Amino acid sequence: QEAINVGLCGLGTVGSGVVKILENHKRDIVHQVGCPIEVKKILVNDVNKKRDEAVDSALLTSNVEELVEDPEIDVIVEVMGGIDGTYKVLEKALQNKKHIVTANKDMMAVYGAPLLQLANENQCDVRYEASVAGGIPIIRSLTDGLASDRINKIMGIVNGTTNYILTKMMDEGRTFEDVLEEAQRLGYAEADPSSDIDGIDAARKVSLLSTLAFSMPVDLSDVDVRGIRGMSYDDLAYAEQLGYTIKLLGIAARGEDKIEMSVQPTLVPHSHPLASIKDEYNAVYVYGDAVGETMFYGPGAGQLPTATAVVSDLMDVVKNIRLGVTGRSSVNPQYQKNLKELDE
Ligand code: NDP
Ligand code: HSE
Repeated sequence: QEAINVGLCGLGTVGSGVVKILENHKRDIVHQVGCPIEVKKILVNDVNKKRDEAVDSALLTSNVEELVEDPEIDVIVEVMGGIDGTYKVLEKALQNKKHIVTANKDMMAVYGAPLLQLANENQCDVRYEASVAGGIPIIRSLTDGLASDRINKIMGIVNGTTNYILTKMMDEGRTFEDVLEEAQRLGYAEADPSSDIDGIDAARKVSLLSTLAFSMPVDLSDVDVRGIRGMSYDDLAYAEQLGYTIKLLGIAARGEDKIEMSVQPTLVPHSHPLASIKDEYNAVYVYGDAVGETMFYGPGAGQLPTATAVVSDLMDVVKNIRLGVTGRSSVNPQYQKNLKELDE
């Protein structure tokens, strides 16, 4: 069977994980999708940087045109981060009929609607499971498993770095700065970790989940955001004494005629399952009219969990390419409308 070719943008924490999974699980992947998946080019900032990975250096380039203009590349896997410039790259790729898999919540929270629209116009797939809660298949659960339900509320821990910091400060008595540095070293934190610490990363994820759960576009600026900057061991220990664990919770709830969204450090009673979510793990509760309460739990950041979501998305796209059914799934036709418009 002819291979499906991938242009990989980014060979950092997640990109290296993608290469590893494609290599280590090659046999099973081919068995499932029915053809080999080959990485044909890899975009990086610096082709001369010393890298640990066993990657053929001939694949590396810092010229994006070599990926988005290559007619032999079928899918662009974007794991480099960035917002405006990255959107431009993906826009070009879609115009050239390349499917997209991305882990980039920053870009999706700003440009999700036009990107999906453009994908639809070009009969292309866009997948972004890894952009929310790392290895937890929460986007798939909302768009597939729970699609028939009316979601009323989503609540959870959607940032691994801040949960890691809060856990290690409390359990090991370490300083904020010390644990943040470790989270960066372990590959959990964003390139600019202030987006983790100040709750912006979680707000982006809440806005993406809200768009899917409530079938309407939401604006990132409508999320009421407070992060964990300045939180001390004393704050955490005092809360513990009172029977609570402090967690950075993202919440999105359907009101009478509006959606309320927030990211806040929250006192969670010890008896609540969210209080026991440790380290970089995430957990998301989804409350549906029909299904009731469901909880999704797993590693929310890190190389292999995130890369698993990316490669699973890639496999889904490859299956669609082989079946000739791409471009059907990305856009919820309601994505661009609000609920009032739909009722009219
Ligand atoms: P890293 O910083 O580890 O890696 C980024 C990679 O992209 C590097 O290889 C870098 O090149 C390359 N790169 C960055 N900007 C450019 C550019 N403008 N042109 C060419 N190459 C570029 O990031 P991560 O792997 O941690 O994250 C990647 C994406 O995945 C981000 O969107 C992030 O938010 C998201 N994500 C990350 C998770 C995690 O746990 N780390 C989890 C979920 C999502 P070079 O190697 O030369 O520096
Ligand atoms: N920096 C993010 C986090 C990566 O810590 O959750 C996963 O999206």
